Amino acid sequence: MNRRRRIYEGKAKILYEGPEPGTLIQHFKDDATAFNNQKHEVIDGKGVLNNRISEYIFTNLNNLGIPTHFVRRLNMREQLIREVDVIPIELVVRNVAAGSLTKRLGVEEGTQLPRSIIEFYYKNDELGDPLVSEEHITAFGWATPQELDDMMAMGIRINDFLSGLFMGVGIRLVDFKIELGRLIEGDMMRIVLADEISPDSCRLWDTKTNDKMDKDRFRQNMGGMVEAYQEVARRLGILIENDRPAGSGPVLVK
Ligand code: TMP
Ligand code: ASP
Repeated sequence: MNRRRRIYEGKAKILYEGPEPGTLIQHFKDDATAFNNQKHEVIDGKGVLNNRISEYIFTNLNNLGIPTHFVRRLNMREQLIREVDVIPIELVVRNVAAGSLTKRLGVEEGTQLPRSIIEFYYKNDELGDPLVSEEHITAFGWATPQELDDMMAMGIRINDFLSGLFMGVGIRLVDFKIELGRLIEGDMMRIVLADEISPDSCRLWDTKTNDKMDKDRFRQNMGGMVEAYQEVARRLGILIENDRPAGSGPVLVK
């Protein structure tokens, strides 16, 4: 059997060498982790759903002129992506108070924020991804001031697009995390969206009931994680309704 070269294995994804130079294959695993790997479980079907949901979002962003690393989905668990130099910063955009913001600042969960707030976390598992400021990022050279401006502008545009997309299907976009990378094209370098956007990296609440439809179901031991991800996919029009023989797992539209 032809074994592919594994470039990197993270908590929820594996990157393999791609078919051409400058490409990689991003493989979505079923593993779910929280609190920096202290909690770990394999959730059957999660990788397949995240692959499809992230494909849907990245395709829409590409079409809107927001550059991403995504090229095309290859199969149930894998997508072809452009290889980028990932910036070691997680950019979080928040619309509603939840998660670490409520703990850090004592704001009640569910409070609508006066405006969208952008935060930066330094990607470093040993340090537990600490919150950092623009000053840290530019002083330590993780990104230049110009790159930071581009990253923030992309975060805001992505927030506008995603908020509208989810609002249209009865879901409130509470917050989300993105990762960005440098893509070199000839002698040009630009910032593109990398990684994934899925219910693993967003907080999504049902508009009517406030039910959580994201990874908080796992973080907070609520159960029903795959069912919630399936519902997100169904509302986005990715899963076929009433077409799932019992026990067969999700049926996906080609
Ligand atoms: P937080 O409230 O825990 O800081 O999370 C903010 C957003 O970022 C939330 O949508 C979940 C997402 N997130 C990740 O995607 N990966 C992480 O490691 C963490 C801590 C949060
Ligand atoms: N992805 C992080 C971890 O494993 C944290 C989280 O999403 O809550 O551990």
